[in-house]
Amino acid sequence: MTATTMEVAYGGVPAGKEHIYSQEPVLSARKLVITFGRVIGLDGVDLDLYPGEVLAVIGDNGAGKSTLIKCLTGAYTPDSGQITMNGKPVHFKRPQDSREAGIETVYQQLAVIPALDIASNLYLAREERRKGVLGSVFRMLDKKGMEKRAGQSVQDLGIQTIQNMSQAVETLSGGQRQAVAVARAAAFGSKVVILDEPTAALGVKESGMVLDMIKQLRDKGLSIILISHNMPHVWEVADRIHIQRLGGRAGVITPQSHDMGEGVAIMTGAKRLTPEDAA
Ligand SMILES: Nc1ncnc2c1ncn2[C@@H]1O[C@H](COP(=O)(O)OP(=O)(O)OP(=O)(O)O)[C@@H](O)[C@H]1O
Ligand SMILES: [Mg+2]
Repeated sequence: MTATTMEVAYGGVPAGKEHIYSQEPVLSARKLVITFGRVIGLDGVDLDLYPGEVLAVIGDNGAGKSTLIKCLTGAYTPDSGQITMNGKPVHFKRPQDSREAGIETVYQQLAVIPALDIASNLYLAREERRKGVLGSVFRMLDKKGMEKRAGQSVQDLGIQTIQNMSQAVETLSGGQRQAVAVARAAAFGSKVVILDEPTAALGVKESGMVLDMIKQLRDKGLSIILISHNMPHVWEVADRIHIQRLGGRAGVITPQSHDMGEGVAIMTGAKRLTPEDAA
């Protein structure tokens, strides 16, 4: 068995989705290692993300979840290991590089800039200039156009509660803020969306909104990595669950192959994945 089929086999392949897992992963990592002085951040981690799946990443505090996604997106440079997109090696030096390759990331901290309006947040670091000399020579921003398109992307995602695109993000509710961050991730034809704890600070209704958006993105064919401590959320939306423990990958399961209690037991080391866990 190759490493890839082995990984998928841990918890089996989600029923009815076999066609997804016969494809090449859109994003793969092999043997990622990163150390911070004497602290081991990642200890040779593998990860596979398939087209059109939600891959949850769970693990205790300090297990290396955020570090893993930072290595995948160029925010950190791993000491060693390989990352491929659609089978081709990539070497992201900064987050902008992975963004240009179609990976949108909502980092655990700083998902949005509160003082800016919604349209500006959506177009952060990719502002559009006006047509002709106004844009090319005078560097004038196409503010009207950005607002119009921002409104469209927010509407496409069904975020009806946001009315005014020139409203400052600091005046939005927590859920609406996350919604803006997810809308930004979805608005630019990305292939992969990575969300680090998007529902951590949210209430029931707001979390539901973000989870619905994740499902919508998946149904559009995007691949999503969802880092979360909220097991019911994970079991609700994930196709597969990558369990991170002490800087390594303890295994990959599915909501069908293992229940929440078993998932948490693997996460804390109370239970080990064995060959019998392979479906
Ligand atoms: N820039 C850094 N400098 C030093 N140590 C770091 C750095 N980034 C991460 N670490 C360490 O790497 C380990 C993994 O941290 P990481 O933030 O990835 O954990 P996590 O799984 O995301 O945890 P949480 O659930 O609390 O968000 C921790 O021991 C952390 O202290
Ligand atoms: Mg983290």
